[in-house]
Amino acid sequence: MRELSMHILDIAQNSIAAGAELVEIDVIEDVANDKMIIRVTDDGRGMPADVVAQIRDPFVTSRTTRRVGLGIPLLAAAAERCGGGVDIASVPGGGTTVTAIFEYSHVDRAPLGNMAETLLALVVCNPNLDFVYNHVRGDNSFHFDTREIRLELGSIPLSDPEVVVFIRDFVAEGERRLDA
Ligand SMILES: Nc1ncnc2c1ncn2[C@@H]1O[C@H](COP(=O)(O)OP(=O)(O)OP(=O)(O)O)[C@@H](O)[C@H]1O
Ligand SMILES: [Mg+2]
Repeated sequence: MRELSMHILDIAQNSIAAGAELVEIDVIEDVANDKMIIRVTDDGRGMPADVVAQIRDPFVTSRTTRRVGLGIPLLAAAAERCGGGVDIASVPGGGTTVTAIFEYSHVDRAPLGNMAETLLALVVCNPNLDFVYNHVRGDNSFHFDTREIRLELGSIPLSDPEVVVFIRDFVAEGERRLDA
């Protein structure tokens, strides 16, 4: 995929499919240590260890015993191509954390992409779920939490058109400040 934000959307969609009510997305640009870390944590239904072991390598698994998904294998392939990898920590009934590490300066590392659009898509399509986004670059960081926005909004839903525009501008501006 051309942008890491597309992988993030994919992994967050797994969380939503797993019944999560809260999805936390961390993007950590640890330039000093030449690492880019992407982590998606959810409170969904989780998976047993044998399923976790299978997901990482769908092509060795018989298609008749399980549906072959590509979200996690594609992310794992992208990370491994960039001197990193993917770790999946999951507890049945206790949620899942998917962590991908990339060598920050690797020539094949895709750019992060547009996180304002990515978060907007997640929030607009799932206005009853909560999303937390932490983007850290060196000493700077941007933080977004739909629970905090909900408190400000009172009874206005997150899907309200004015709120949608606010969220897009808020995240886009926060991301721009990190670039400065
Ligand atoms: N956060 C999660 N919580 C619970 N189960 C998960 C989670 N992420 C992945 N899974 C399980 O692992 C499977 C494989 O995920 P993966 O994203 O690789 O493929 P998929 O979602 O099935 O298909 P695709 O992403 O190609 O549409 C999922 O079908 C689901 O059963
Ligand atoms: Mg998926």
